[in-house]
Amino acid sequence: MWGKLNKVSLAEGINWVGVVDWNLRDFHGFTARRGTTYNSYLISDKKTALIDTVKYTFSEEFLKKISEITELKKLDYIIINHLEMDHSSSLPIVAKIAQNAMIISSQRGKEAIIEHYGAGFRIRTVKTGDELNLGNRTLRFIEAPMLHWPDSMFTYIVEEKILLSNDAFGQHLASVFRFDDQVDEHVLLEEAITYYANILMPLGSLISRKIQEIVKMGIAPKIIAPSHGMIWRSNPSKIIQAYLDWSVCKSKLKAVVVFDTMWRSTDKMARAITEGLASQGVNVKLLKLRVAGKTEVVTEILDSKTVIVGSPTLNQQMFPSLSAFLTYITGLKPKGKLWSFFGSYGWSRGAVKSMSEMAKKAGFEVFEPGLEVKYVPNQEDLKKCFEFGKKIAIKIKA
Ligand code: FEO
Repeated sequence: MWGKLNKVSLAEGINWVGVVDWNLRDFHGFTARRGTTYNSYLISDKKTALIDTVKYTFSEEFLKKISEITELKKLDYIIINHLEMDHSSSLPIVAKIAQNAMIISSQRGKEAIIEHYGAGFRIRTVKTGDELNLGNRTLRFIEAPMLHWPDSMFTYIVEEKILLSNDAFGQHLASVFRFDDQVDEHVLLEEAITYYANILMPLGSLISRKIQEIVKMGIAPKIIAPSHGMIWRSNPSKIIQAYLDWSVCKSKLKAVVVFDTMWRSTDKMARAITEGLASQGVNVKLLKLRVAGKTEVVTEILDSKTVIVGSPTLNQQMFPSLSAFLTYITGLKPKGKLWSFFGSYGWSRGAVKSMSEMAKKAGFEVFEPGLEVKYVPNQEDLKKCFEFGKKIAIKIKA
């Protein structure tokens, strides 16, 4: 067993008691290349309150961290901001020991607790604006449905102005450090945008409305403490502004060319299209899907004006990797992008048509016609690819 752990304090009596998952790489399909953390917070006042729990595989370490600060049996409240199991799956273990603790959740949270872990828990439900007095501190609750599940809520510590935002403002970033000013800012923002793009992108309008609602409530957090990654204490307004920009998919003069290839024909087309875009001053990211992976591609799409997707034809269809990617991206509903499609074929076409139909069905704006090349592109074909890229660049610049 490990020795006594260093306490991480957000303010007097408010401690981080989460765990670091260094080796997580696949978070339900999201490539978490830098691991993650499951953040939980313990407030020690006249009453004690635990905010969220951690993934059950880390429950032993979690219980030890709590017990070094308070006697778990005497815990008064367990606040469940969100039921997804990365945050709630240690709840049954904690609740079994802390038998007098009242669980606090939203109404949808209560239903989800029962649906995940069965009945028998003592649960009090709260709504936006409800408060819980711990002695010297007040917890105020803000429902945040669909950020990122229907049950989600934020907890605000009024006196210290700390917003415990659960998934919102999080990042999958494992580190020995806990605060934004202790880690490389570029890495931190890279992981924050990756998290936003791959998890929260379809919820952009809810996010901007929620931020406006919080401002109207007079809440101006000094610290934002999410349930993954670093705690924002140096300048929380920076991540709030970033979320407002991301929520509308604010774009730059940037394009993503994403493709897969069998015998390099689509690869050659992708390179020529990239050159055509670049010739007009567009910043282009050329990404081979099976190498870059969908998590990186989606992150690059968030602030791009246009996405150009290439696939060879296989059995009169798009390549399977493109099919999986388009399923993923249509679910994430990026706003305001111009989509176009290209690809190679042998004796029968199909990839460009099937990709274009899928995009149109999702409501995406499609630049037509797409571009197809038989077998291997010759110099004339590559010139057409260059012109295709150039035409798209001119359109997005207009
Ligand atoms: Fe980190 Fe929606 O769970």
